[in-house]
Amino acid sequence: MPSAIPETLVSCGKERGFATLERTKIRIGVLASGRGSNLQAIIDACKRGYIPGDVVCVISDRKDAFALERARSEEIPAIFLDPAQYPSREEYDAKLVEILKKHDVDLVCLAGFMRILTPTFIDAFRNRIMNIHPALIPSFCGKGMYGLKVHQAVLDFGAKVTGCTVHFVTEEVDLGPIIIQIPVMVRENDTPETLSQRVLKREHRAYPLAIKLFAEGRLTIEGRRVRILPKYP
Ligand code: GRF
Repeated sequence: MPSAIPETLVSCGKERGFATLERTKIRIGVLASGRGSNLQAIIDACKRGYIPGDVVCVISDRKDAFALERARSEEIPAIFLDPAQYPSREEYDAKLVEILKKHDVDLVCLAGFMRILTPTFIDAFRNRIMNIHPALIPSFCGKGMYGLKVHQAVLDFGAKVTGCTVHFVTEEVDLGPIIIQIPVMVRENDTPETLSQRVLKREHRAYPLAIKLFAEGRLTIEGRRVRILPKYP
């Protein structure tokens, strides 16, 4: 049986291939600005062994983010990194990279992180940053599309189907290669709130699944397409 992290992950652009590591678990760093329900779904999936990995640090740009509280209760290092202390986005992101490297993170997961990352950050973790968006990308995404605004836009447009997307992060906001999408039907009487609740339930399945596939070395990127390899080739 192959190890949990076979060679194929190297094609996701990892500088040091997992094949050369003894590790069978990946180290996950999560960036979050808010309530952290996706963070919790990831932690729970790691704890029950669904994801061969551990969340090794949680960083937030908001001191009062509930995500930090969740990390503390799980005894995971919870770090508040105050944007006001950094003169530029580049310097803030350089500090983020430093902390994530210090924790020897293999994968960075954005889970409701309300900042757009600079190219320097993206380069430092090329093809090793994931994000979750509460719509079916490329619809209802991009700058300014976050939170209930997304679901309001879906309803205003009259879309009949929405959902969630987990994707790799590139310099273009919300447009990196798509890993997983789960659809959700829009109901006649939906409000942005009811729709967001149903989409969120799907997010809590989609994100752990995408991370599990990454950790198992089953994702390869070909242009814009992410291919999911079978478990035992
Ligand atoms: C989620 O809807 C996610 O798709 C978006 O931000 C929200 C974060 O929610 N990127 P939570 O903090 O994980 O509960």
